[in-house]
Amino acid sequence: MQVVEEPVPKENEVLIRVQATTVNDYDWSLARGKPYLYRLMFGLLRPKYTIFGMELSGIVEETGISAKKFVIGDEVFGDISDHGFGTFAEYVCVDENVLRHKPLALSFEEAASIPHAALLALQSFKIVGNLQAGQQVLINGAGGGVGVTALYLATMQDCVVTGVDSADKLAGLRQMGYDHVIDYRQQDFTKNGKTYDVILDCKTNRPPWAYLRSLKKTGTYITVGGKLSSLLGVLFFGRLSRLFSEKGMRILALKPNDGLEEIVNHYVGGDIKCLIDGPYTLDEVPDLVEYFGLGKHKGKIVVKVS
Ligand SMILES: NC(=O)c1ccc[n+]([C@@H]2O[C@H](COP(=O)([O-])OP(=O)(O)OC[C@H]3O[C@@H](n4cnc5c(N)ncnc54)[C@H](OP(=O)(O)O)[C@@H]3O)[C@@H](O)[C@H]2O)c1
Repeated sequence: MQVVEEPVPKENEVLIRVQATTVNDYDWSLARGKPYLYRLMFGLLRPKYTIFGMELSGIVEETGISAKKFVIGDEVFGDISDHGFGTFAEYVCVDENVLRHKPLALSFEEAASIPHAALLALQSFKIVGNLQAGQQVLINGAGGGVGVTALYLATMQDCVVTGVDSADKLAGLRQMGYDHVIDYRQQDFTKNGKTYDVILDCKTNRPPWAYLRSLKKTGTYITVGGKLSSLLGVLFFGRLSRLFSEKGMRILALKPNDGLEEIVNHYVGGDIKCLIDGPYTLDEVPDLVEYFGLGKHKGKIVVKVS
């Protein structure tokens, strides 16, 4: 483990004693320097952040001179990706506006696992508009952090939910509440003749016109991630398709922490459950980033720091 000096909060920052953090797609991408687009944002030849990690829960240890939102000892959590990285550490300084109070009903491990994936799901469905009872929803990449939260949100609205993922995850997905499951290696859901009101895609691995074919007349397709070339395809074809159809195609750009209070209330109320892989220890982080890359994790990979 690398030893660095304890950081000192700037005016509007708070120093957090990190209790738990998680491994995300960003960490895997920073470690590999791919997709290459990230190099424009995070460093051309090497990452400008030496400590990765962007989701945390922890305890306020010190406050900057203008930071007024929290007092020492407050339990907080949040996604800090808009304000730098650095949660794979015992201490990190964070702009106080990024953080929210951690509900007492949630453990530090649970709280750290929520902001990023859960808000990708919540913000996607907000773009679609209100889900209606009986609507057919398909989630591609159903067993990841986004897919599982999306399942809970859709079943809360009595939608009929189909999950697409790898064969070894399908039994678990059924148990979680998916009405129908599809093994993506056995069946291409865009070619089985079924149509959906909403398709939420975590992978974007089919051509855009194939998604359009799988939507009902006024259905919406929304993607949260995938290869840049595929996303550009969705952007271009989505605009084109509006000229001849009522179907919608959208790409979500996550607004970190936007809607966090709303989604976390569902966890506190028991409507949504955290699916945690771990917790692991801080010195396991390099291996965990590779483990994330292999895609074998089930739920959020959580690291208990203190
Ligand atoms: N929009 C934004 O602003 C934003 C910001 C940050 C991240 N993201 C994106 O959000 C997504 C994160 O989602 P996540 O963490 O829930 O995903 P994930 O855990 O990486 O993957 C979800 C599931 O997809 C399965 N899968 C793999 N290949 C598949 C295929 N061809 N068809 C269907 N399922 C497949 C995986 O199973 P197996 O691997 O076992 O096959 C896994 O269970 C990523 O795409 C990330 O890039 C978006």
